[in-house]
Amino acid sequence: MVHSYLRKLRDEAGNNRTINASSAPTSSPHCTVNNTPQAMSIFKAPKTALITGAASGIGFATAKLCRSRGMHLALLDIDAVNLQRAKDELAVLGPSLKTESYEIDVGDKNRWTEVAIQIGSAFADVDLVFLNAGRSQRAQCGYEGKLKPWGDTFDTNVFGPLNGLEAVIPLLLSSNTPKSIVITGSKQGITNPPGGGVPAYNASKAAIKSLTEHLAHDLRSDPATAHISAHLFVPGWTWTGMMGNVGPTQEESVKKMAGAWYPSQAAEVLVNGVEKGSFYIICPDSETDWALDQARIQWASDDVVEDRPALSRWEGSWKERAEEEIRADAERRRK
Ligand SMILES: NC(=O)c1ccc[n+]([C@@H]2O[C@H](COP(=O)([O-])OP(=O)(O)OC[C@H]3O[C@@H](n4cnc5c(N)ncnc54)[C@H](O)[C@@H]3O)[C@@H](O)[C@H]2O)c1
Repeated sequence: MVHSYLRKLRDEAGNNRTINASSAPTSSPHCTVNNTPQAMSIFKAPKTALITGAASGIGFATAKLCRSRGMHLALLDIDAVNLQRAKDELAVLGPSLKTESYEIDVGDKNRWTEVAIQIGSAFADVDLVFLNAGRSQRAQCGYEGKLKPWGDTFDTNVFGPLNGLEAVIPLLLSSNTPKSIVITGSKQGITNPPGGGVPAYNASKAAIKSLTEHLAHDLRSDPATAHISAHLFVPGWTWTGMMGNVGPTQEESVKKMAGAWYPSQAAEVLVNGVEKGSFYIICPDSETDWALDQARIQWASDDVVEDRPALSRWEGSWKERAEEEIRADAERRRK
């Protein structure tokens, strides 16, 4: 499905755009990016980053990092007040660079169309698209009469990026220089932990994993889009608006819990991951290292392979064994 809409979008980009199959690169930029990360990096002047959820947390921290690399910024968010604060702060950090903001509910397809037109005329090119806006609502447990939080969550977390892709991919076809699309997933979309009352959030992030995998496959399979790389960005526990640290806050003055990372740490991992050419960009945090993540992901996949109960890591008769085996597996991986 993604493949066919990409083809449709490319066709619709039509005569206004300079790219065509014969002028497009014949291989994915991944290899080139892998071989010469700095030379091919999109995180440099005079490139442009389009970021959703830019008024807070990881989106704002990534915008700040992009700005420190000399990039122009198109900032998108639903929160008008914090979006203006973010824009003001980022503009001061690069007075000679372009900083534009667009108020949008990413679930609103029509608004995406308007914003994409405005961005297309404000910026010469768009090089990084970071589809990051997300929300998590509690009270999603139970299914009878409780579908509203599911709809709201999917509108933002799944249809937000889908609407964004449909609206902005034509902007990425204006030239065949390397471009990247990064979509924010979650470990909850991979290991699917129960508790916390957020099954809709987990399901939305599982959908994002699947969608972004297909996007990567489709983009690299078509010579006309092979200059666009796709990446699934998976933050660890990060001290953001989701933890009450709302808006473009100064990290130096924010008190966070010890196990969580600052948003700027997650943003660094994102940039390094894209520059390295990784598809799965998984962040650790101060409680969970990569080895522990690997062991947990392995256990979750093995539920299927070994015909264990769903979510066996949290099931009474499996819980202890799961904990023990995951700990041992992580230790082996650290050696
Ligand atoms: N913080 C974590 O520990 C963590 C872990 C895994 C994944 N994530 C993901 O990271 C992403 C960024 O979240 P964050 O942690 O920085 O939280 P945050 O609340 O600080 O930032 C999210 C931003 O998205 C905006 N937003 C929400 N709904 C929107 C909508 N419908 N349209 C436009 N903008 C909207 C919010 O106004 C906010 O500015 C989300 O996709 C989230 O699911 C966060």
